[in-house]
Amino acid sequence: MIQSGRSALVTGGNRGLGAAIARALSDAGHTVIITHTPGNEQPVAWLERQEYQGRKVAVYGVDVADYESTEALARQLHADGHHVDILVNNAGITRDGTLHKMDKSAWDAVLRTDLDSMFNVTKPFLGPMLERGWGRIINISSINGSRGQFGQTNYSAAKAGVHGFTKALALEVARKGITVNAVSPGYLNTEMVMALREDVRARIVEGIPVGRLGEPHEIAALVAFMASDAAAFMTGSNVAMNGGHHMS
Ligand code: CAA
Repeated sequence: MIQSGRSALVTGGNRGLGAAIARALSDAGHTVIITHTPGNEQPVAWLERQEYQGRKVAVYGVDVADYESTEALARQLHADGHHVDILVNNAGITRDGTLHKMDKSAWDAVLRTDLDSMFNVTKPFLGPMLERGWGRIINISSINGSRGQFGQTNYSAAKAGVHGFTKALALEVARKGITVNAVSPGYLNTEMVMALREDVRARIVEGIPVGRLGEPHEIAALVAFMASDAAAFMTGSNVAMNGGHHMS
């Protein structure tokens, strides 16, 4: 396989959508660095397969909700000889519940992990991208950031915030060789969606025009395109991929 000479950092790349994105970027010839939450080391099986196939994947623990942790990650990556050309801000959580029943802790956890992480992770890697004059920043938002979702005031607010962050930063770096885009997936066949109550999930799938959940690799292919040289004219975009759910 031809290596691109570029490195991609995928937060939450150990499982679900993040793992599919890491794999697609690796398939595209990029060196891949994935992160997982400290203490949640699940990437091993996937990683062994990657290494078996001769792919370079580095794994680090980081708490994307904590700026000190992301700064420490940036220092460690630098010390280990890595640089980040492609940043995929993928790590995210849900703490669903109607606002009436939602604790402050469920609000804070989602806002910190899903929105503060945009600042925390992007900030330490932006300077070096500006110095190199090339970069791709891809932020994973959600259909629920634009559509809203019953039981997700926290998540919908955070994911809508990701849209704003994406567009503002895209403007700031548009002339510096760096593109900043968001992807808004719909409901996917991942642990996060499979954790929904079965009746709730069945009702959601009924509302998806194509009649099924999306597969993580379908979103990952879009991310790999956004990370490529071919996508240089795309910036500040928020691309929906949701089986037509945004129309229903
Ligand atoms: N619209 C209108 N009313 C709704 C509704 C909806 N979408 N969903 C539920 N209700 C109503 C119910 O009919 C019920 O009404 P009654 O009291 O009159 O019977 C009432 O609201 C309570 O509903 P629940 O029994 O579901 O309430 P709950 O407190 O047990 O559960 C909940 C609340 C946890 C939020 C649950 O509704 C739920 O899981 N909803 C889905 C949340 C969701 O989609 N999360 C996405 C996770 S995956 C993800 O986020 C990835 C991504 O980016 C897409």
